[in-house]
Amino acid sequence: MSKSAKPVRIGLISGSTREGSINKQLVRAVSLIFKDMGAKPVKISLKDYQMPIYDGDWEAKNGVPPTVKKLIRRIKSCDGVFISTPEYNGSLPALLKNTIDWTTRVELGHFKGPIYGIGAASPGPMAGIMAMRELQFILTRLGANVIPTQVGAGNAGQAFDKKGRLVEGFSKNQAQHMASQMLTQIKQKR
Ligand SMILES: Cc1cc2nc3c(=O)[nH]c(=O)nc-3n(C[C@H](O)[C@H](O)[C@H](O)COP(=O)(O)O)c2cc1C
Repeated sequence: MSKSAKPVRIGLISGSTREGSINKQLVRAVSLIFKDMGAKPVKISLKDYQMPIYDGDWEAKNGVPPTVKKLIRRIKSCDGVFISTPEYNGSLPALLKNTIDWTTRVELGHFKGPIYGIGAASPGPMAGIMAMRELQFILTRLGANVIPTQVGAGNAGQAFDKKGRLVEGFSKNQAQHMASQMLTQIKQKR
């Protein structure tokens, strides 16, 4: 099969692994949009890639946890990656930052290969804009090509319908723009 005939793989990561997480809900809703557009969603649950809080002494003694290399391989198998982050005190949750930090101890190829998209879900009206801004900064600093359109789902309690799709409105429009821009860029790269 030629590369262009292969299905486009989109990795989907939630920065919260919590049962009932609204960011997991957003990731799922965005995965349905990608599916509607013909791409193959690839679920990447950070629960499957547990790693300790980064500590240089721990790394010197134990090396890089195998979960870090496994996660990098999984991300590199994707053409695009969508990350939805919770906002904790105006910033990224430790889980997401720690995961990013650990992977940079191995290589940066997983940031430079896939095209990245960013989103955030929040129970409040501001949709995690500070966390998205910060995630965009970090990913860009690591060499990632990040789609500028961000998917903020504020007032997340009202953002999804019974089937888990985003309801009509701003967040859904943003998600569709982000997804179509990402797929266009992936096709141009192939
Ligand atoms: C430590 C902590 C700090 C938080 N800070 C913010 C914040 O700065 N902005 C915000 O919109 N929500 C904040 N929240 C609320 C989260 O948006 C809310 O708990 C959300 O449900 C977390 O995402 P999840 O449902 O995907 O786990 C905070 C929650 C916690 C636990």
